[in-house]
Amino acid sequence: MPSWRKSKILVVGGGGREHALCWRLRQSPGCGELLCAPGNAGIAALPGVRCLPVSAVDLAGLCAVVRHEEVDLVVVGPEAPLHAGLADALLAERNGRTAVFGCSAAAAEIEASKVFAKAFMLRHGIPTAAYTVARDAAAARAFLREQAAAGRHRFVVKADGLRAGKGVTVCDDIPEAVRAAETLLSEGSAIVIEERLVGREASCFALCDGEEVVPLPPCEDHKTLGEGDTGPMTGGMGALCPTPVVDDDLMVRVRDEILQPAARGLVAEGRPFRGLLYAGLMCTAAGPMVLEFNCRFGDPEAQPLLLLWDEGVGDALAALEAVARGQLRQLPPLRPVRGAAVCVVMAAAGYPGRVRSGDLIEGIAEAEAVAPGQVVVFHAGTVLDPSGGLRTAGGRVLGVTARAADLPAARALAYRAAAKVRFAGAQLRRDIGHRT
Ligand code: AMP
Ligand code: GLY
Repeated sequence: MPSWRKSKILVVGGGGREHALCWRLRQSPGCGELLCAPGNAGIAALPGVRCLPVSAVDLAGLCAVVRHEEVDLVVVGPEAPLHAGLADALLAERNGRTAVFGCSAAAAEIEASKVFAKAFMLRHGIPTAAYTVARDAAAARAFLREQAAAGRHRFVVKADGLRAGKGVTVCDDIPEAVRAAETLLSEGSAIVIEERLVGREASCFALCDGEEVVPLPPCEDHKTLGEGDTGPMTGGMGALCPTPVVDDDLMVRVRDEILQPAARGLVAEGRPFRGLLYAGLMCTAAGPMVLEFNCRFGDPEAQPLLLLWDEGVGDALAALEAVARGQLRQLPPLRPVRGAAVCVVMAAAGYPGRVRSGDLIEGIAEAEAVAPGQVVVFHAGTVLDPSGGLRTAGGRVLGVTARAADLPAARALAYRAAAKVRFAGAQLRRDIGHRT
């Protein structure tokens, strides 16, 4: 792409991560027209952004958009379309003139199948918890009985397929693991049962265009609904960046022992990865170990990361475009982020179970006015009603995100802003960023 031409961009998805992507990409000098499919009420309100009523998993519809609109770059937010083959389909359009930030279906297997991911890690010497695969309840029970007899009682049971972060049960004892295994096997065909690790969690992201990996500042998620890391698993109730759990020395290990071998392994197995490689880690006494790989930015981790990713760090659009065009090696090095950011998720009544929709949301402008330029309320599940009122329309509704000089200041600001936002039944954790 000649440098004088601005890129026409399509962002696929409609959650908080995609709002943050659109918000950040719009500020790049190379950003021309910006489209989002399907987007949400917050994305639609960004100046110069056009939302299209095409679902993120409507592959034919998205290919048609790319053809008719002559899109230069597609940035795919969520995992489901990648797993369904969206990147492969888009690359076949327009004689390859559309670049795609997002990996092939073959590479997305690293997230879509826990069974594949565990065996892949074993093949490539990537540190992860010991595990077994069970395909029926009798085998799961027999394995867990054997483990109990050997004095091992703490396991994590995981469904094989994509489950929006909710197919995992962290078990305190064998009977709980047996129940979790039986439940998941009644819903699907295979599960992973793995040793329960102890340590601090972190989400480490890298830009990746084959063998080349460029790690991004490490983030920290808060996966359970309840304070003190209790209650049911969610897609993520809050996040911060950069996490002090991963210092510079540990980041070198994460790159050399995890991200780089994963990228090389995927190339070696004929599934080169082009997009965002996400390693969910447990930082244990023995070093960082992989809990899961994902094939896209974390949500809500992307919100604080992208809020911090300003011109001082480097041009975000140039970085995504370099990945999409296989030119990551030519990208000028990214500089460290300044300060810290915290995202507090506000979820709808009932989340992560059956959620209620249609509650009126108020106070977003007041929240952003708490510290203009430092607070951004990213929308996830929101919709405008015909009279122009903002309503809840999904599990995770908003991500109130704030940046400041350090983590305590960012956390305080995020909570001051979140206190201004009101909707019936809102759920939020009061302890985001309090582990550190
Ligand atoms: P996953 O989707 O595999 O990342 O699992 C979701 C969450 O379950 C992780 O963020 C951890 O909080 C927890 N978890 C997963 N695997 C383990 C493990 N082996 N040991 C302890 N906790 C785990
Ligand atoms: N926040 C966890 C994830 O995006 O998978």
